[in-house]
Amino acid sequence: MEKRMDRWIRDPALSSEGYRRIAWAEARMPVLMRIRERFRRERPLEGVRISACLHVTKETAALVRTLREGGAEVALCASNPLSTQDEVAAALVEDYIRVYAFRGMSEEEYYEAIGRALAIGPEVTVDDGADLTVTVHKLAHGIPSPELNWVRRGLGAEGVEVEGIAGGTEETTTGVIRLKALEREGRLLYPVIAVNDSPTKSLFDNPIGTGQSTIDAILRATGILLAGKRVVVFGYGRVGSGIAARARGMGAEVIVVEVDPVRALNAAMNGYRVCSSLEAARVGDVFITATGNINVIRREHMEVMKDGAVLANAGHYDVEISLKDLRDLSVEVEEVSQHVKRYRTRDGRNLYLLAEGRLVNLVAAEGHPSEVMDLSFSLQALSVEHVVKNRGRLEVKVHDVPAEIDREVAMTKLRTMGIEIDRMTEEQARYVSDWRLGT
Ligand SMILES: NC(=O)c1ccc[n+]([C@@H]2O[C@H](COP(=O)([O-])OP(=O)(O)OC[C@H]3O[C@@H](n4cnc5c(N)ncnc54)[C@H](O)[C@@H]3O)[C@@H](O)[C@H]2O)c1
Repeated sequence: MEKRMDRWIRDPALSSEGYRRIAWAEARMPVLMRIRERFRRERPLEGVRISACLHVTKETAALVRTLREGGAEVALCASNPLSTQDEVAAALVEDYIRVYAFRGMSEEEYYEAIGRALAIGPEVTVDDGADLTVTVHKLAHGIPSPELNWVRRGLGAEGVEVEGIAGGTEETTTGVIRLKALEREGRLLYPVIAVNDSPTKSLFDNPIGTGQSTIDAILRATGILLAGKRVVVFGYGRVGSGIAARARGMGAEVIVVEVDPVRALNAAMNGYRVCSSLEAARVGDVFITATGNINVIRREHMEVMKDGAVLANAGHYDVEISLKDLRDLSVEVEEVSQHVKRYRTRDGRNLYLLAEGRLVNLVAAEGHPSEVMDLSFSLQALSVEHVVKNRGRLEVKVHDVPAEIDREVAMTKLRTMGIEIDRMTEEQARYVSDWRLGT
């Protein structure tokens, strides 16, 4: 472990492997690389201090290196204690980026690392799940919270000057939900751009990126055959619908559990069996949560599951599968392999939990493929630039990504894929914008 003012990483000797992985990602992120070229020429982030709390993966490295080419000074901490790729962290510190992240951090270390990333005195925050942004707000509002003691250990006596923060960005659904709740209470202190909600993010990253990498992670961890299995997906939102489609593509019989009637109907009309969680619990072989909600799989479900059932979570936090209930029901816990724990219940069944109930695709696999993160992180880079350009002019609220940024990223991606699309004729453009014209 190397712990200094400017870094807290597992092992600096891993950097050459980290560089190889980053190079692999960057070769598949052409849109972000074009933005990097422009940032290198124009330096729109010259001297801007950014605290970022993201999964420390090879794709995140590509983003952070782009922000640095734009002139920013970046301090990076992990947005999950188990998702850090240690070799990527090692490569980034060689690139003069402050990194406070290693795989397998304790909760205490996780929050101390957030404190350290904030010690840079951010002008922009970049977040995934809102732990960093919420920490800033708890400190500023003087809201007592046990984790703040650990944050202060990393942050030092100075604290964070909220007045110096021009704005922030948020990467995921759970983070946006937390920030909107903060806004509703009138306690949001600076503007934040909800990158998650932009179509160019949520139509691709959530269903396609998480869909593929969640299946990838389950297969890497267990090697089971999906064909013929009953896969139960909890939540048919952006993420869950992607997982369901990919599991079906592998030959599984997919069952959907929902609480929203519209989403449930959508799943039913897409040909999935939709039923109550208790009914699904009895018949499922593999259970995947993707709701952003708490205790979605709990004691009553675990009690009726089949021997050998596999449990995985793709939602942001490790709260969707009740670990407490699983422990309470069990007489024995055994680590079967790196990402699989076997829980033996009192009545003699085995339930297999993957990745400790944390987001399985980032813990047991490598997170979203680079090609899809090209979109999300291009939006992030341009949103950071937008915040800096409009410093002091953005209303303090949760903003959508500006539509022109969304279009620009989608258009550039299409070009890099060699795809040309049509433009409307003048007549068509007139027709769709004039209410007088009908049949
Ligand atoms: N693993 C990843 O890499 C990754 C990527 C993107 C998003 N996420 C996370 O995945 C989660 C879901 O994101 P999303 O964009 O799909 O959100 P979403 O709002 O589009 O979908 C969530 C769905 O879950 C349903 N739901 C809520 N409570 C439920 C319950 N008790 N039982 C069954 N269904 C329930 C909702 O009705 C909704 O349809 C969030 O936590 C998000 O942050 C993870």
